[in-house]
Amino acid sequence: MTTDLLGNPVSYGDRNAVAALDAAADKLLAYRADPFAEVEAILAAHPRFALAHCFRAGLIATATDRTLDGEMAKSLDAARALVWDANPRERGHIAALAAWASGDWAGAVELWGRILHDHPRDTMALQFAHVGDFFNGSSAMLRDRVAGVLPAFAGDVPRAGFVRGMYAFGLEETGDYETAERVGRASVAANPQDAWAVHAVAHALEMRGRAAEGIDWLASTESGWAPDNMFAYHNWWHLALCRLDREEIPQVLALYDTRIRPADSDVVLELIDATAMLWRLHARGVDVGNRFEQVAARWAARIEHGFYAFNDAHAAMAFVGAGRLDLARRQVATLRAAISGAGVNAGMSADAGLALAEGFLAFGEERYAACVEHLVDMRARAARFGGSHAQRDVVSWTLVEAALRAGQTGAARYFAAQRLAAKPQSPLNRAWALRAGEGIAAAA
Ligand SMILES: [Fe+2]
Repeated sequence: MTTDLLGNPVSYGDRNAVAALDAAADKLLAYRADPFAEVEAILAAHPRFALAHCFRAGLIATATDRTLDGEMAKSLDAARALVWDANPRERGHIAALAAWASGDWAGAVELWGRILHDHPRDTMALQFAHVGDFFNGSSAMLRDRVAGVLPAFAGDVPRAGFVRGMYAFGLEETGDYETAERVGRASVAANPQDAWAVHAVAHALEMRGRAAEGIDWLASTESGWAPDNMFAYHNWWHLALCRLDREEIPQVLALYDTRIRPADSDVVLELIDATAMLWRLHARGVDVGNRFEQVAARWAARIEHGFYAFNDAHAAMAFVGAGRLDLARRQVATLRAAISGAGVNAGMSADAGLALAEGFLAFGEERYAACVEHLVDMRARAARFGGSHAQRDVVSWTLVEAALRAGQTGAARYFAAQRLAAKPQSPLNRAWALRAGEGIAAAA
C-alpha cells in the first residue's frame, strides 16, 4: 500500500506522483504559489490519481466562485469515475466535494471532518474543512476541528506547525487572543513561510486594538509570507487595516495600489479584500478616486450568481462605491432570490446577506436612517455568512457612520461606545466618538 508523507493510505500506486501531491499540499498549507499548477502537472501525467483530482476540486471549491463550477465538475467527475479503486479515506474526500458542489457546505465540512476520525493526519481534509468552516461562519469549529487532531501532531511530525497555525486562527476567532498569539508566533518562529499562522497573529493583535504591534508584526515577518504567496494580498489587507485604525490614509491607499490591488485580478477572494478596504475608506469620507470602478466591473460579471451571500454583499459595496446604484439594486434582487435557492447560501442570504446589501444600497442612496434599520438587527447574525470578525467589522463601521449621517446622535454614541470598549485607544474609534458627541475620557 502506498502512503503519503504522513502515513495516510493512498490507493494510487505511483510513489513519485504521491510525493508530488505531498509537495503541492505543502505549498497549499503555506499558501505558496502555485499548488494548482502543480496538481495540473501531476494529473497530466497521472490521470487516474483520484486523490489528485480531489485536491484540484478542493482548491476550486475554496475559491467560492461560481465561474469555476465547470472546472469543479470536471475534477469531481474524474474522481467519481475512479471511486471503485479509491480507499475509504479517498471516498470520504469525494463525498465531501460532492456535497460542496451541491451547495451543502455544512455537510461537506462534516464529511471532511469525519475523515479525520480515522486519519487525523489527513491535512488535506483538515485544511479544506478549516477553510470551509471559515466560509460557513463556524467559529467554534475553526478551533475544535483542529483541536481534535492536535494529539496526532505532538512532537516532531511534518506539518505540525501548519496545524498549530490553523489552531491559532480558531483560537482567535473564538476570542482567546492571548493563546492565539502565543501559538501563532510559535508556528511562525518554526516556519516563517506559514502565512496562515502570521495571519492568525495579525488577527489576535487587531482584535485588541494593537495596531502598532500589528504593523511591526507584519513588517518584521514579511520576508517569509509575502514572496510568491497566494495569500499575501490578505496579510497586506491586515496591514492596511492597522494603518486605517491609526487614520494613516495615504499609507492605506499606497498599500491598496501596490499590494492589495496591484493588478486587475479576477480572483474573488482578492476582490473581497479590495472592495472591503475601499468601502471602509469611502464610508469614512475618503475620496478613493476611480478605484471602485475596476472592482465593480469584476463583480458585475457575477451579479446574477447568488452563489455566496458574503461575496454578494461585497459586490453591493463595490457597486455603491462606484456610483452604480442600478447594479447594487440588481445585486439586492439576486440576494432576495437566493433565499429560495439551494444549499447553505439560502440561509446565509436570508439571515445576513440581503439586509447587509440593502444597508449598503441605502447608504449609497443617502437614506442613512434606512441603512441603520437594515444593519442594526442583522449585526447579531452577521457571522452566519462567514468571514472573520475583522471582515465583519464593516457592519459596525457602516452602522456608526450611517447613524451619524442620519443625525441619530443617541444611536451613534451607542455604536461608537461599543467600538471604543473593544479598542479604547483606536484613533478611528475616538474620532467617531467625538463626532457622536461622546466624551471619550471615561472610555479611554
Ligand atoms: Fe484575515
